[in-house]
Amino acid sequence: MSTDQRRVRVAQCPGESGRAFDVGQQERDDARRSVTLRAHSTRLARGLGGGNTRTIALTVRGRCSTSVTASARPRGGGTLTRFGHFDDVAREYVIGQPDTPLPWINYLGSEDYFGIVTNTAGGYTFYRDARLRRLTRYRYNGVPLDGGGRYLYVRDADTGQFWSPSWQPTRTDLDDYRCRHGLGYTVIGSRRDGVEVETTYFVPLGETLEIWRATVTNHRPSPARLSLFSAIEFCLWEAWDDATNFQRNFSTGEVEVDAGVIYHTTEYRERRNHFAFFACSEPLAGFDTQREAFLGPYRGWDRPVVVERGRSGDSVAHGWAPCGSHHVVLDLEPGAQRDVVFVLGYAENPPEAKFHPPGSGTLDTRGVRPLIDRYLRTGAVDEALARLAEHWEQLLSTLQIDTPDPHANRMINVWNAYQCMATFNLSRSASLFESGLGRGMGFRDSNQDLLGFVHMVPARARERILDIAATQLPTGGAYHQYQPLTKRGNDAVGSGFNDDPLWLILGVAAYLKETGDAAILDEPVPYDNLPGSEEPLYGHLHRSLRYTTERLGPHRLPLIGRADWNDCLNLNCFSETPGESFQTTENREGGVAESVFIGGLFTLAAAELAEIAARHGDTAGAERCRAAGTEMAAAVAEHGWDGEWFLRAYDFFGAPVGSAANEEGSIYIEPQGMCVTAGIGLGDGTARQALASVSERLATPHGLVLVEPAYTRYHLELGEISSYPPGYKENGGIFCHTNPWVMIAETRVDNGDRAFDYYLRINPSAREELSDVHRCEPYVYAQMIAGKEAPTHGEAKNSWLTGTAAWNYVALTQWILGIRPDHDGLRIEPCLPGGWDGFEAVRRFRGATYRIRVRQAAAGRVTSLTVDGRPVDGTLVPLAAPGATVTVEAEIG
Ligand code: BGC
Ligand code: NOJ
Repeated sequence: MSTDQRRVRVAQCPGESGRAFDVGQQERDDARRSVTLRAHSTRLARGLGGGNTRTIALTVRGRCSTSVTASARPRGGGTLTRFGHFDDVAREYVIGQPDTPLPWINYLGSEDYFGIVTNTAGGYTFYRDARLRRLTRYRYNGVPLDGGGRYLYVRDADTGQFWSPSWQPTRTDLDDYRCRHGLGYTVIGSRRDGVEVETTYFVPLGETLEIWRATVTNHRPSPARLSLFSAIEFCLWEAWDDATNFQRNFSTGEVEVDAGVIYHTTEYRERRNHFAFFACSEPLAGFDTQREAFLGPYRGWDRPVVVERGRSGDSVAHGWAPCGSHHVVLDLEPGAQRDVVFVLGYAENPPEAKFHPPGSGTLDTRGVRPLIDRYLRTGAVDEALARLAEHWEQLLSTLQIDTPDPHANRMINVWNAYQCMATFNLSRSASLFESGLGRGMGFRDSNQDLLGFVHMVPARARERILDIAATQLPTGGAYHQYQPLTKRGNDAVGSGFNDDPLWLILGVAAYLKETGDAAILDEPVPYDNLPGSEEPLYGHLHRSLRYTTERLGPHRLPLIGRADWNDCLNLNCFSETPGESFQTTENREGGVAESVFIGGLFTLAAAELAEIAARHGDTAGAERCRAAGTEMAAAVAEHGWDGEWFLRAYDFFGAPVGSAANEEGSIYIEPQGMCVTAGIGLGDGTARQALASVSERLATPHGLVLVEPAYTRYHLELGEISSYPPGYKENGGIFCHTNPWVMIAETRVDNGDRAFDYYLRINPSAREELSDVHRCEPYVYAQMIAGKEAPTHGEAKNSWLTGTAAWNYVALTQWILGIRPDHDGLRIEPCLPGGWDGFEAVRRFRGATYRIRVRQAAAGRVTSLTVDGRPVDGTLVPLAAPGATVTVEAEIG
């Protein structure tokens, strides 16, 4: 909304300035759009921008959607939209309205204990594995949305009124609401009837517990007699079982309550030696642990009978659904403030010392009590919060940039890096789009995620690489996924995705370039985790490459197997059974279906391995890799070129896929991005031609679609891709993971303008003003934005856990800004948009700090480079001594 509070701007696409409308005005602004603007609850908005803002709701009918733009400047920079704004100074996203289009989440925890927390305190928590050790319950797909969380209720004894300070679950109107999602913590605050409650949620480093610190303030001129109730629902540990095996688990639930601490002890008497605890810093007026006693019959979390009547039931759960609720009475004088701390956590006792006294069947709490007590003191909470802030400062300071573009700055400096760490921690397991029940760590996903976090946590990246490589099969192939708790390949999904092994080479290459730690290549690593099968990691890389060369098709292109990067292009699958998984069902043995994309990926991987081999002293190996790469590039050029773009594949019958000859699916994005990135077609103009075709056929204002035209009917010979309605997911959605490949490809043909233009189209911060359309969080990438053939074009889905995070980070930092780790130093090869006059950056690399300043007089490539004032030939900044600070200056044009 603008400073004139009666007018708002409505834009349809990023970059558009949009049209101004009066609030209340109804308007049909073109043939397809009808827009109504109406004043929305002003109560909700007051906390946002210092009292001078209003929240405006926008109702849109018709096919094209629109969004509200605000021009008021909130604290900390950023633009105020009707949902919130970036506070760049605090590194927070501030949400000013609880009913965001979808729950907008954050993650808590970065080691063993994790939680999802939504902007209204929804979400759940788990120890290491979201399926096997889930502490609290969450209802995916439930209405109202986002049920189950870390809930508090406030009750006013004088009026009997009660509400949730996080809005959910009572959804009572609040006078002022804000949620600040920060780095590893979330603060949700609100005010109603003069009572303010602000709750900070976080997981202290090194602990397997989470803190909720609620600060309650009485702003009334009179005393406030309040009750505070906490509420969580325990998941009976195994999330799949919890959701399905009621005949058993309605009878297994157990708790113990001792000295104000609620212990969840389901199955502890028998095979488990772990338990959960939920504690509160204040003396309790009561507690509840039986869900139905707390809620009352036929009630939901929005109206628990205990809260309504203002008195706990002191219930002890026997079976059914154990929950945890504390009741604290707070009598606050005018202006008085009180902190109430809750600690929810996971603990284990040694299997032989589970009970006290031994054999009693009573939980031995002596080990965990001191820990609980420590955090119930506020000093320990502040200290832990400060350590968390330091931790993130340390991680993010590895690379900080200052460019003319605020969206690039805030994503790279904070949010994109943060999202990369989320993919490191969670792979594809737990988000609001990944249930935590199924997918563990993907082989290809984990290797690609690594590209985005290796510079922040190199030691943990090393461990990750060795874990992944240990699941590789002796054939050089790979289990498609492995389980985080066991680190074993996942039999249920199996193997045969023929691109998988090649990503290991890219992951290891990135690690080596970042760290210079060549010793990793000598680490003995087993195949399929079988003791005795160990071979140095270096050998694994060659087997990866050989896996492809041993599986070539009629055009000397790689056989696709079950699928390549595009899980949904299933050329050997021929599935006709409803509900059958395209990913696991038996495939036909054809030996014909080939992937041009794998051809590009192989060319890239072969070049990386050739370089690694040469440095490893394996000259013959290096030569073999180089020759294999050259041969593959030639095969792609000869059989993978369609005339105006790269073909996608040959199907089971040898017919082209992704060709002008195909009525549907005539051009795919993946081979254009990957083949050009690998350098194919740079010399003969085909690379440029392919990218021109991308721009013509695949580009939309919301990003580049995956395939065009999307499939309108089910193609038995193509599989899952054609199972999606046109414009969604792999079938012509803007599958954001692939866009940065094209950005990188554009830098390979020196087109910085186009690379950066594509970058901004999907940059979440640049799309913030379109939140009504985009709907997912504006601070992280989503896997997919609905494509041009979709009725909801521009709408994002599957936020957070996607390879999009790593690749966009790489595309912007390493190829557009051109700060690229290399084996012998830091490469500085920017390819900037023509309008920029340069940028600055600070990069920590192999123990030294590089202060980089790039000046661009005219669009082009680096013309001179100086290091500490001394000119350097080429674009490589040589390695400096650890601890050194180095000044790098580059001139362009
Ligand atoms: C999705 C893919 C995903 C695959 C994983 C498919 O349904 O469309 O994006 O990689 O499932 O199992
Ligand atoms: C999501 C999967 O996690 C990833 O491995 C795959 O490459 C993409 N979908 C495309 O299908």
